[in-house]
Amino acid sequence: MTEVLEIAKKSLFKKGFLDMDIDPTLDLVEEINKLKKVKNAIILAHYYQESEIQDVADYIGDSLGLSQKAESTDAEMIVFAGVHFMAETAKMLNPHKKVVLPDLNAGCSLADSCPAPIFKKFKEKYPDHVVVSYINCTAELKTLTDICCTSSNAEVIINSIPSDKGIIFAPDKNLGAYLIKKTGREMILWDGACMVHEIFSREKITKLKHRNPEAKFIAHPECEEHILEMADFIGSTSQMLKFTQEDESCTFIVGTEAGIIHQMELASPDKTFIPAPPENNCACNECPHMRLNSLEKLYLSMKYELPEILLDDWIVEKGRKCIDAMLDISAKAGFKA
Ligand code: 13P
Ligand code: SF4
Repeated sequence: MTEVLEIAKKSLFKKGFLDMDIDPTLDLVEEINKLKKVKNAIILAHYYQESEIQDVADYIGDSLGLSQKAESTDAEMIVFAGVHFMAETAKMLNPHKKVVLPDLNAGCSLADSCPAPIFKKFKEKYPDHVVVSYINCTAELKTLTDICCTSSNAEVIINSIPSDKGIIFAPDKNLGAYLIKKTGREMILWDGACMVHEIFSREKITKLKHRNPEAKFIAHPECEEHILEMADFIGSTSQMLKFTQEDESCTFIVGTEAGIIHQMELASPDKTFIPAPPENNCACNECPHMRLNSLEKLYLSMKYELPEILLDDWIVEKGRKCIDAMLDISAKAGFKA
């Protein structure tokens, strides 16, 4: 009976439906570290994961760093503490390895805002254009993309495209608008956005700045233009982290998902970090997708090697090209994980 129950639970967990009961006396960190060794597994975590996940990770980084690490790892199993498109990217780079995501429902509003079949029709209107997609998109969208980019390397990627070529940029209209300003290139933008970065309140940030005149406001380029206009620094998560370490200011208002503050505090324990306030009084500056992962689910995903990311061969073959193109340009430009 116990065995049948175990199989049933495993099957539900595989589909991402169940947070299985775990012995509450178990030291999860110790168990996770044991599983890492036994299974030759690596835990890759994004900065937006909860602190206790970041603390057990082998590598914590932004989307570019995570892709570079996924590409270079010798581990047999990749445990991706992030969202679905990140784990899919790791799988495309490692089609013969096992890639697991602690919660299969950890999606991304930005990736969801650009369904591949609709984008395909949109793209047909501009047959001579190069398609650049932000890595926050589905594997299927990557099959319709020429070059991927992340917020770290987006400017370099756009500048690598011959100036006489038209560009379609998908799916993030905010990052796209920011890049048009930075590079001076005209681009056709897909109308997508991230639900977390569209929630910041200009009025509340203005008040915070007024109350903390010494504070610097730092923002992620997924934020809307009226928020970016107020920023003292704009960059990817890893660039924001680096800025807080190198800048002489002692206080920072952080305009991105609040999970990154954990690494900022670890790196600069004497500095103060204030999460940029959202429009409502909710915890909207925490990504509901990223936060579906938990230490418990991470442990279970390693123990059962589930839920696994599985992709059709044609998606891997076709979708990988735009990731390889991005990694190539990034390596030549000196980006290292
Ligand atoms: P980066 O960490 O690459 O800046 O991306 C932020 C993000 O929204 C990931 O989902
Ligand atoms: Fe997607 Fe935004 Fe969450 Fe990043 S923060 S995973 S872009 S919804």
